[in-house]
Amino acid sequence: MEKIQQLAQWLKQSKRAVVLTGAGMSTESGVPDFRSKDGWWRNIDPATVANTQALEQNYDLFHAFYCVRLEALKGCKPHAGHYTLADWERRGLIERVATQNVDGFHRQAGNEAVDELHGSIHAVRCQKCGAAAGEEDFCEKRPCSQCGGKLRPGIVLFGEVLPEEAWNQALEAIQKADLVLVIGTSLQVYPVNQLPRMTSGKLVYINREVEGFEQDFDLIVEGSAKDLLQQIDIILRA
Ligand code: APR
Repeated sequence: MEKIQQLAQWLKQSKRAVVLTGAGMSTESGVPDFRSKDGWWRNIDPATVANTQALEQNYDLFHAFYCVRLEALKGCKPHAGHYTLADWERRGLIERVATQNVDGFHRQAGNEAVDELHGSIHAVRCQKCGAAAGEEDFCEKRPCSQCGGKLRPGIVLFGEVLPEEAWNQALEAIQKADLVLVIGTSLQVYPVNQLPRMTSGKLVYINREVEGFEQDFDLIVEGSAKDLLQQIDIILRA
């Protein structure tokens, strides 16, 4: 049986399917990922921008990097693969989506049960007092209106703890799942890369690059997230 037919069958049979996504889920929306050949970390050392040290000691570079990402997102939107996952939630084929992505595309496409494990780039707040602020305030480099502190996007920087509720919900769902689809992530970043091994259910890896994952997954489907999700949906609807 073809791999995507096998996956469609598992989806139909499953009672508790959970999806875990990474940046590869958004590249076909025009958002670069991090570790592919044209990913963010190919040109920028994450240690210089994506941690609280950069935020405290090199705010200009930190600010420039995240403003560029916010600006770049303005021209991007969810693609057919995101809408397929939202449709699958509505049809009861998947229970929830846990994502490392901070672009908000899963919710924008209509998924409601979404755990943003690395936060949201759109949720700007003050680093000092935690007061919420707007993307505009951040990109205009305005100080916090409450305390004058530095503003930052609400994403999890390297070394920061993950949002507790999102983590606990995703962990519990994956532990109870009978099927986990891991889509568009290199699984290089702790602790999210530990989630797939927390399930006793079937594990599926959908990714453009798949070498090195053979022994960890029950099914490996190489290719484009957007195309494969749509192909699986066609089989499900047949
Ligand atoms: N379809 C399928 N897979 C894709 C596609 C696509 N259209 N585009 C890229 N990929 C794959 C790449 O081959 C790569 O293996 O998606 C994976 C993306 O991996 P990363 O760039 O490492 O992104 P991710 O795993 O989400 O990174 C995790 O690292 O920098 C931190 O906080 C950041 O959340 C991010 C975390």
